[in-house]
Amino acid sequence: MTVKEQILSLLGSNKGGYISGEEIAGQLSVTRSAVWKAIKSLQTDGYSIQAVTNKGYSLSPLTDILSAGAISKHLKPQGQQLRLEVYKTIPSTNEAVKILAATGEAEGKVILSEEQTAGRGRNGRPFFSPRGTGIYMSILLRPKLSAAESILLTTSAAAAVALAIESVSGKDTQIKWVNDVFMDGKKVCGILTEASLSLENGLLDYAVLGIGINVTLPAAGFPDGLGGIATSVFSESNHYDDLRCRLAAEVLNHFMEYYAHLTDRPFLSEYRQRILSLGKPVTVMKDNKQRGATAIDIDNDCRLKVRYENGDEEYLSSGEVSI
Ligand code: BTN
Repeated sequence: MTVKEQILSLLGSNKGGYISGEEIAGQLSVTRSAVWKAIKSLQTDGYSIQAVTNKGYSLSPLTDILSAGAISKHLKPQGQQLRLEVYKTIPSTNEAVKILAATGEAEGKVILSEEQTAGRGRNGRPFFSPRGTGIYMSILLRPKLSAAESILLTTSAAAAVALAIESVSGKDTQIKWVNDVFMDGKKVCGILTEASLSLENGLLDYAVLGIGINVTLPAAGFPDGLGGIATSVFSESNHYDDLRCRLAAEVLNHFMEYYAHLTDRPFLSEYRQRILSLGKPVTVMKDNKQRGATAIDIDNDCRLKVRYENGDEEYLSSGEVSI
């Protein structure tokens, strides 16, 4: 993290309170003049930071910035062992965590960013990740799961996001199988799990669980093509408290609770109740062909059971299904 990012994280975990330049310099092992320069630059970036002689620096309590300190304040015991790192901008949090995973980083590293310049979605699609209005985060996991069981990571994360959004916003959410979280008929969160298999035992070596949530409305709205299908948890464009930090922490709290006993499927009932398409007609895209079907059930392995128009039934474990 740069000095600026570290200062923001320090001030962000003590919003409204003062921290002296000396204390900041000491904690970060930099000079006081480096602190002063970084503060000036943060103010130029638009952060409301007061500088008061003999007291130090204070970040306005009305600032909604993602910081490791502010997120940690809301973490329950199951989330406390996570190691959070927040960037202001990054190409993709999934890519960053994948690099760490390949170099032996232990489970529990979480990278978040205020913005992604090359955010990625499933099937090679880009993921719109504008600055300051969303949560873009990736968690490094090393679960003892087979490749087939890795669907449990994605589906439990979808349930965790749904519960977190509901508790922070008081609004209902739905899940579009496999892992898109919806509100009012539009997508509010996408999840991309990227896993690497160990050749030795056939289990996952690591999995990177990437979660992108649109929290508030981007200032310029959603770009063409997304406007009709994407939405944000809150309809206003600004939110001045630690809303995103609370939401990120809630997602981590719910997910880590599920993760501790993942193969018992503790999330399945919350997941199943929110599935949008059960009992409804869906279109299944397979091998470049479209087939009409009815979605009937979600089984214990989170597969979608569909019945085609000719009566044939099939369990789908991945692939494209549109409602
Ligand atoms: C999808 O909807 O297709 C999945 C979107 C996943 C987006 C998240 S944002 C954090 C992480 N980093 C990425 O580049 N992608 C995931």
